[in-house]
Formats: sequence, structure tokens, C-alpha cells
Amino acid sequence: MRVACLGGGPAGLYFAISMKLHDPSHDITVFERNRPDDTFGWGVVLSDETLENLTAGDPVSAKTIRDHFAYWDDIAVHYRGRIIVSGGHGFSGIGRKKLLNILQDRASALGIELVFEREIASTDELTDYDLIVAADGLNSKTRTEHAEAFKPEIDRRACKFVWLGTHQKFDDAFTFIFEQTEYGWMWAHAYQFDGDTATFIVECSEDTWAKAGFGEMNQAESIAVCEAIFEEYLGGHCLMTNAHHIRGSAWLNFPRVLCETWSHGNVVLMGDAAATAHFSIGSGTKLALESAIALAEYLHSEKDMASAFQRYEDERRMEVLRLQSAARNSLEWFEDAERYLNLDPVQFAYSLLTRSQRISHENLRLRDKAWLEGAEKWFQKSATGETPDAPHPPMFTPFKLRGLTLKNRIVVSPMAQYSAVDGTPTDWHLVHLGARAQGGAGLVFTEMTCVSAEGRISPGCTGLYAPAHEAAWKRIVDFVHTHTDSKFGIQLGHSGPKGSTQLGWEAADAPLKQGNWEILAPSAIAWSAHNQVPREMTCADMDKVRDQYIAATEMAQRCGFDLLELHYAHGYLMSAFITSLTNRRTDGYGGALDNRLRFPLEVFHAVRAVWPADKPISVRISANDWVGEDGVTPEEAVEIARRLKGAGVDIIDVSAGQTSVRAQPVYGRMFQTPFADRIRNEVGIPTMAVGNIYEPDHVNSILMAGRADLCCLARPHLSDPNWTLHAAAQLGYEDAAWSKQYYAGRDQLHRLAQRAEMFTGKV
Ligand SMILES: Cc1cc2nc3c(=O)[nH]c(=O)nc-3n(C[C@H](O)[C@H](O)[C@H](O)COP(=O)(O)OP(=O)(O)OC[C@H]3O[C@@H](n4cnc5c(N)ncnc54)[C@H](O)[C@@H]3O)c2cc1C
Ligand SMILES: Cc1cc2nc3c(=O)[nH]c(=O)nc-3n(C[C@H](O)[C@H](O)[C@H](O)COP(=O)(O)O)c2cc1C
Repeated sequence: MRVACLGGGPAGLYFAISMKLHDPSHDITVFERNRPDDTFGWGVVLSDETLENLTAGDPVSAKTIRDHFAYWDDIAVHYRGRIIVSGGHGFSGIGRKKLLNILQDRASALGIELVFEREIASTDELTDYDLIVAADGLNSKTRTEHAEAFKPEIDRRACKFVWLGTHQKFDDAFTFIFEQTEYGWMWAHAYQFDGDTATFIVECSEDTWAKAGFGEMNQAESIAVCEAIFEEYLGGHCLMTNAHHIRGSAWLNFPRVLCETWSHGNVVLMGDAAATAHFSIGSGTKLALESAIALAEYLHSEKDMASAFQRYEDERRMEVLRLQSAARNSLEWFEDAERYLNLDPVQFAYSLLTRSQRISHENLRLRDKAWLEGAEKWFQKSATGETPDAPHPPMFTPFKLRGLTLKNRIVVSPMAQYSAVDGTPTDWHLVHLGARAQGGAGLVFTEMTCVSAEGRISPGCTGLYAPAHEAAWKRIVDFVHTHTDSKFGIQLGHSGPKGSTQLGWEAADAPLKQGNWEILAPSAIAWSAHNQVPREMTCADMDKVRDQYIAATEMAQRCGFDLLELHYAHGYLMSAFITSLTNRRTDGYGGALDNRLRFPLEVFHAVRAVWPADKPISVRISANDWVGEDGVTPEEAVEIARRLKGAGVDIIDVSAGQTSVRAQPVYGRMFQTPFADRIRNEVGIPTMAVGNIYEPDHVNSILMAGRADLCCLARPHLSDPNWTLHAAAQLGYEDAAWSKQYYAGRDQLHRLAQRAEMFTGKV
């Protein structure tokens, strides 16, 4: 086969080598526009896994690569005068030039023709070839030439970076340096890649970059500014560029590239031309090399070129998407880094280490137990003010709000049971909520409990608007307080436009088959085409609803609840005021955010005035309507939270969605936690995270990284009322409070968990 590799980077060279190794009769030419030593960039990082794949692909070049590796184990984070070092990360680095020279030599030895200083302007120049591998990098001309076929999607990311080198040694750790400058924060990613050279990538926000004037500087000028900023870390060494062939300052915005298809006729994309992964997870070269190995193999194992391309796309795309997802988390962390710059150095380092979500809490323990235990102790001390004797999982650290102390950070999220009779909670609620309090959570919430009969979602919803309700709730509160040390919160709400609907297990959100009642909303907009049109509230209606909230709050206090949550999420009345999707009022209660928040805040102030000063109030919000700019965005949610904080709300319970039938939510593990993180760290108010948090490891990672202060778990508590106690046993934490009646079960569970650990080799 006559093969043209367009581009002599890692992808093009390694593909040529792999093809020759499969069949030496292939006639292969690599076209590279630069000279052999002309490479832009400094060192690259490769994992042990990639090296094993290289060894399997070509032991000869793998050995030479290995011989030139610099190894290091630690990550060091320099931040606010502290250096936080954690170990067990295992990296190896090699100079990009060295890597390419090794691959060039190997390719020549195998009889591959290397043509340097030959720029290919179009694939039309290569019509003599059976196969054209377009490995022409990030700005692939081939991808652009055949854009209609490849359908590339290029997402130019927000930060600016420049890839520099230095002779200063960073040989003891992969080093991150965060520096506050007069223009804003700037940071460096530094790592050694041979005996006397290290990569030094400088990055900052576009705003900082513009303020520093880098756009108007040439490379030498911008290097001089970077040297001054990082002087303290450079030990007198200078920063160097090898991007002299690039015009301007060589600062770039990272483009995330993904193409809908990777092949077109006999042309196939590879490496950065096909897909990119942000440099902060160091996987671009890995993707390029592993894709090269894969395509060469499929061209020999599949029946024809088209099937080989198909298999290449099917199998490599999965891997690319997996890495791109981790890379996106990582690059977004850096884009938002300024949000975290108020965190304590330990928490900041933890947040940085876990940014891609590939490294979890327990995974960090495997890497560096001592460091993680130190971080856990820091977390305990920051919460209690006392230095602990021994570390324990963050989820078992108490949390204080006003006069309330929760024994741990697990919350049973509010969950409607549709089992009340005329608003009165029944024995079902006693057993359901009682069992969850016995199950060890620090805080148990009631379901949304409605402030009036017409404010109920369904006929089965609980209420707090009649003496019978108060008496029934008091019985449940007394049970929880007498038999457990969980705290008990009540969630108060009014269904608004989503009222008068069927029970959850019937047709949720659909109107009742009979007996519908009139419903209220900020505007006369029906929830869906099937729901009744609500009546637009008058000021008198608003006063009435406010008074119903006050009455319910007074009852909640008499019942003895410890915390009160106002349900301002999920499209119910207050949420319908907040989002402009359902609030079209033209009076002082509609329009700008301050107006849309006016009624919810009036209710909050009225409730706060009658709720005891030592008891906290949380507000649950939908931080994203999932309809783009038309509704509440995570950005607007920050403003909502800022105003709630200003009004005196103690903690925001950050949910999302359920505000529009048009919503397009993006689900996944912990999918709403980024909104809680953003609100907590931009507004400076405690948050509860909720949504697909189901493993102890999720909870511990969220808490330690400062993404939220409490974690609400809903569905996990439906399948396991004892979720917290089981988590404690799994983590080897022996101090979780069990009901004494259940001690024998506790002891057996811990014994079994310990044995399981022994068999899995964890102890
Ligand atoms: C700052 C930074 C740090 C990075 N750090 C790492 C890291 O630590 N680990 C890691 O794995 N990856 C890292 N990468 C990514 C890595 O450099 C790339 O993913 C990798 O080089 C992709 O290989 P490639 O062969 O696809 O493309 P490239 O390496 O870009 O090679 C493409 C080649 O094609 C040539 N070419 C382009 N157009 C033509 C043409 N028309 N005719 C002839 N020749 C042409 C170019 O000159 C170039 O030599 C980093 C990237 C950046 C920007
Ligand atoms: C059966 C059920 C009923 C729910 N009822 C309420 C409710 O009354 N109030 C509320 O704010 N959220 C309610 N939710 C939403 C949950 O509190 C939670 O936000 C959501 O289920 C996501 O958490 P999870 O992934 O842990 O289940 C309910 C969820 C379920 C599964």
C-alpha cells in the first residue's frame, strides 16, 4: 500500500512506524513542513499505561523513549505562600523534540521516507497514494479542506496560555504555581522532561492577559513579563520559547476539537487533527500515539479500508470522548480558577487534584494516605476549631448553622410521598421519616409541605395549615428527637402553577381526573398544554399566601422542627416568580431579576421574622432552567443566591430544572454539583449539593473540595434508609450513631466490612 502521512508529529510518525511493523512492504512517506529539529513546545507527559501500549506496539522505540524519561511522583501546589505537596501520582516526561527525534530515527531505520520542509497545501497533491493519514495537528488544513465531510466542531476556550521552557529544575514534582499579579491571577504548570530542561506553561484568564498587555507584545517582551512574575520560582533562570516560527506573542486559546466523522474517501484524520484534549490532563500525545497503533492494526485485521476506518472511529471515539470529558472538567477548573482563590491552601490543592473527576477521595488515599489524612484533619479542624486526634471521612464532620449543629453532612432530601390525607401526615410518614432519621443522616427533610390546601401539588401532599396537621407533624418530630440525634427540617412550599395534579406514581404533573381546584401563578401561563391555566395573582393574593407562610412557620416552630426550608425551585409558586419563563408580569413583581425576586423575598422576610433567631433557614432554588439564555442560567443563579444571602438566608439548597417542559437537562454523576460549587465559591454562602450523588466517595470529594457544605441524597435514601450507616461501615468509621436496639446489626456490619476489605487487599 502507498501511504502518505501528512504531518511528522507523534501521530504521523507513529502511524508510519506501526504500519511498517505490520507489513514492511508498505511504501510510506511522511511529509513534514518543518525541519527535523524545529519543534514547537517542550516536554510532554506520558502515563505508564501509554508506555505499556507503546512497548506492545514497538518495543524498540519504547525502550529508547523509556531511556530518556524523567520520572516524578509528587504534585506540588504553590499558592498564597504555602507549598502543598502530595505524592503517588507517578508521571513520566520526555522532551517533545527528543520524542520526535527518536520516532524519526526509528522511522528511517524501518525504511520510511521522511520528507521535511514540504508543506502540503491540499490532499490533491497526494492523489498517487492509496491512503492519506492527515496528522497535521491542531489547525489541520486537511480538516478545513474537507470540512463538509468531517464536520468539525471547534470550541475556543477562555484561558490564554503560552508554552515555554526553562533550565530551572522542577525535578522533584509536577508543579503548579499560582501568583497574584497587578493584572489578576496567573499560574504556571511546570515539569521536568530531561536532565536540565523543564516545561513551563503560563496561563491566565483572557481578562488578565489583556490587562497585562500581552496582546501587544512580541515573544521576548511577553517572556520578560512572565519572568518577572515568576521570578521567585525560577532561581535566576530565564524562560525560553522555541516557537520563533510563530508570529506575534505565541499566546494561544486552547481549541477543543471534535469531528463528526474522521474519514472521507481514502483520507483519515488522526491525533490533534481529529480531536484534542486539554494539556492540563496531558493526554494529547497519548491519544495521538494510541490512535496510530489502533488504525494500523485495523488496516490489517479488517476486510477493507472502509471497515478499518469504521472500527477505528467506533473504538477510538469512545476513548476520545472519555478523555475529552475529563479534559473539559479540568480546563473548566482552570477557567474558573479565580473562583477558588479564596480557599485555604489545603482545600485549594485538593480541589485542583480532583478537578478532572478522574481522581476521587479514596483514590487520593491510595496515592498518598498521609497527605489525605492531613487534609481530612484540616477539614475537621476548620469545622470544629479543634485539632482532631485522628482523621475521619469529611462526611462525618459536624456542620453548624446559627444555633443548629448537624452531626454529619448527609441530608435526606425532601421527597413527596403522596400519602397524606387532607394534608395530614399519616403513619406512613412517621415510619418513613423515622426510619431515615434512624438511618444516621445528619438532617432529614420532610417532603414539600404545603401552606394551604390549594397550594398542594396533589391531594396526597402534606400540609401545615390546620391544627390536625400540626398535631400529626409534632408526633413525628417528637419521634425523631426522642429516638435519634438527627435534626429535622421542614420544607414549606406552594405548588402555584403545578398544583392540582395527580399522585407521583400516577401521571405526575398531569391535572386530576376530577376535583381540580383553582391554581395561582405570577402569570396566567399553564405548565403544559394539558394543565389548567392558572389565575394571575393579585397583590391581595400575594398578601394571603405570605400570611399562609407565616402561619405555617409558626406551626413548624410549635412542632419543634430544627430548620426551615423554603421551596423556591422546580416550577412551583416561588420558582414561577423567579424565572422569566413563567413570570411575565408588568408590575413591580415582574421583569428584572430584582422584581421577580420581590415576592419570594417578601415571604422570606415575613417567615424569618417569626422563625426563631437561633434556627436557620435554607432556600432551595433551581439554578438552571436548562433552556439556555431564555431562563435561569447558572450565572443568574449566582445573582439569585447573592440576593438571598443579602436577605439573610443561611444556606442555599442548589437543585435545578423542573421549571419548564422545554428543559434539556444534561444528566450525569453529581450533575448539579457545579452549580452549588459556583454559588458557594462566588457568593460566599454555604450550599447543599443534590442530584445523582450516590456514593460515599462522591460526598467526601464534594465536601473536601469545598464544592458544597452538605450533600442531599434523595433516591439513595428510598432504596436504603440506612445509607449513612452503611457508608460509615464501608469507610471504617465506627462513631456513627446507631439506635441501641440495632447494636448487634452494627457490629456484624462492621465486621463484615472489615473482612471484605481484607479480602480485597485494602488492609
Ligand atoms: C501547551 C501544551 C502542552 C501539552 N502537553 C502535553 C503533555 O504533557 N502530554 C501530552 O500527551 N500532550 C501534550 N500536549 C498535546 C500534544 O502536544 C499534542 O496532542 C500532540 O502533539 C498531537 O500530535 P499530532 O501528531 O496529532 O500533532 P502535532 O504534534 O501538532 O503534529 C502535527 C505536525 O504536522 C505538521 N504539519 C501541519 N500542517 C502541515 C502541512 N500542511 N504539511 C506538512 N506538515 C504539516 C506540523 O508541523 C506538525 O509537526 C500539549 C499541548 C500543548 C499545546
Ligand atoms: C419521590 C421523590 C419525591 C420528591 N419530592 C420532592 C419534594 O417534595 N421537594 C423537593 O424539593 N424535591 C423533591 N424531590 C427531588 C429530590 O429532593 C432531589 O432533588 C432529586 O431526586 C435529585 O436527587 P437524587 O439524585 O439523590 O434522587 C423528589 C424526588 C423524588 C425521587
